[in-house]
Amino acid sequence: MIMYRAADEGELTEEEAGMLVRSFLSAGVDTTVRAVGGALESFARHPDQWQVLRADPSLARATAEEAIRYVSPFQTVFCTAGRAVDHGTIRLQPEDKIFLSLGAANHDPRKWERPDTFDIRRRTVGHVGFGAGIHGCAGQMLARLEMEVLFEAMARRISGFELAGEATYALNNTTRGFKSLPLRIR
Ligand code: HEM
Repeated sequence: MIMYRAADEGELTEEEAGMLVRSFLSAGVDTTVRAVGGALESFARHPDQWQVLRADPSLARATAEEAIRYVSPFQTVFCTAGRAVDHGTIRLQPEDKIFLSLGAANHDPRKWERPDTFDIRRRTVGHVGFGAGIHGCAGQMLARLEMEVLFEAMARRISGFELAGEATYALNNTTRGFKSLPLRIR
């Protein structure tokens, strides 16, 4: 693994390599699983959108982006103000704790037209599903690529999805995704 190679070459300690591998695995697996699950459920509920993708599989990348916005699998981020900030309506002091609701921002009607509509042709620039700033998701390009490749391959083989039972959400403070998602795939 590249982290341990970096440790062998003296760029990291062995302990740092282990922590990095763990943070990539913990940050990168459930999030992507939940994004894909949420996208499939969205397609089952909006079958017209699956037909749009089937007609033009090159929309797979845009699909991944809209799924991240619409589903917002990583719902919340907490951070601490490093300095005083005055945004007019919001004033922060150093060390103030901040709760950011990425899911709410991704459905904010001041930013998005028809925010609660799943639309893979929408212009999704400005969504915050991967966070923002210096702590923005380190794996976002990989996640986008994984989803793009998957949706493109599925669009060529699958004619549609149907819910085959009641979907239930997993209880989690940070991520949004399914405990169970019965789907019939044609
Ligand atoms: C659809 C899938 C994914 C979503 C929605 C997602 C979302 C996020 C979000 C919202 C953050 C916090 C950003 C912030 O604090 O401002 C984050 C951080 C992070 N993500 Fe992802 N992520 C995904 C996939 C991945 C993958 C595949 C990897 C690695 C292989 C990864 C690695 C990380 C790491 C290492 C951080 C911490 C970055 C830091 O604190 O500097 N993520 N991700």
